[in-house]
Amino acid sequence: MIILGIETSCDETALSLIETDGRKNPSIKILENVVLSQIDLHREYGGVFPMMAKREHAKNLIPLFKKLLEESSLVPRLKIKVESKRRKESKTLSTFNFQLSTILEREPELLKQFLEFIPTIEKPPIDKIAVTHGPGLEPTLWVGINFAKALGEIWDIPVEPINHMEGHIFASLVKSGEETPNSKHQIPNGEKIKMRDLEFPALALLISGGHTELILIRDWHQFEIIGETRDDAVGEAFDKVARIIGLPYPGGPEISRLAEAARQKNLVSEFSFPRPMLKSPDFDFSFSGLKTSVLYTVKKLPALEDKTKMSIALEFENAVTEVLLTKTKKAIKAHGIKTLLLGGGVVANIHIREAFQNLEQENAHIKIHIPKANLTTDNALMIALASAIRKAKGTPIVSEKQIEARGNLRLGKSPQHK
Ligand code: KG4
Ligand code: ZN
Repeated sequence: MIILGIETSCDETALSLIETDGRKNPSIKILENVVLSQIDLHREYGGVFPMMAKREHAKNLIPLFKKLLEESSLVPRLKIKVESKRRKESKTLSTFNFQLSTILEREPELLKQFLEFIPTIEKPPIDKIAVTHGPGLEPTLWVGINFAKALGEIWDIPVEPINHMEGHIFASLVKSGEETPNSKHQIPNGEKIKMRDLEFPALALLISGGHTELILIRDWHQFEIIGETRDDAVGEAFDKVARIIGLPYPGGPEISRLAEAARQKNLVSEFSFPRPMLKSPDFDFSFSGLKTSVLYTVKKLPALEDKTKMSIALEFENAVTEVLLTKTKKAIKAHGIKTLLLGGGVVANIHIREAFQNLEQENAHIKIHIPKANLTTDNALMIALASAIRKAKGTPIVSEKQIEARGNLRLGKSPQHK
């Protein structure tokens, strides 16, 4: 079965094609995985500007889809329809045009490109389309959903809505065949991957720009959020602290780079920031106080020299890591967790990765799965994989009469819950 994954929940336009053998423990081939990041465009606004992100997705989806088909090992050359066949089909196409115009009425640019390109090619052997329907920015989610619906309509392919966070969780289950130095952080296209099995109860720590959650997983797809942030998400805190000390968006990688440089120099931070909610009896987090503490500290400083920035980045990253680690350990203990999964953009952070790898070494009873660096930030491979895993484990797909963008979609709740 060949699955097309589509992801447009924020500022990455991403598409992926995978082939799964559909077994219970599936063997999956990555046919192609493409991501187009809009970060450079949003940087000057200091964050993601939703309407611009929506326009960019609409502009880029067809060129990216063309690239995906051209470069996938599955469809070696784009099959262009021969003229006579195309003419014969043009009548049927005009009925489609009407439906497509309705589906894509809010994305005129996408509709124009769609009609210029899609009818000129043969239907690729795609069996299912998996598309992110939430959580995320609703205007940008809609672009991906409408693109999926339009493709599904014209080629008669079923469309499955996927929770973005489920994708982030299961990205950690990708087991690459060979762990060569080159494949350590990247998954090459054309590679066959096995999915790791999961021992339950499992726990997922999701840390991204919009989420900080501890999710208890009692069995396949039985998610329960047992802890979450009460204010800022971890990635958001990284981004805000970066802005306070004059670093560009997105701040996570910038803070991480400075903190690593500080460690290389054996620098001991001159600052001491709080570890919010470290000892609270629940599994919740709070990061806004930590951010405010950085803000007050900076306000009191006469100048922000490079060494001071390093010192702030180091102490901030240490504080965040300590809180994440402590709360996760507590949840592991309380729920007798056998497997811990990490997911979300902040998992790209080297220090946080190392801290959790050490946790596995310290604790023989628990397996910890951390996704490869290029699978931590938003991508469509994780969306296609989430769909493949649902099929493999026999979990019914999320059924909705009409797939809709759900900005506040939560794991463990039916899609009706917003
Ligand atoms: O999962 P993601 O790509 O998008 C969301 O769904 O939010 O996560 C993006 C977040 C941003 O806040 C970014 O600053 C953060 O992940 N991030 C990092 C690092 N790389 C990305 N945070 C800390 N260290 C990093 N190396
Ligand atoms: Zn994400």
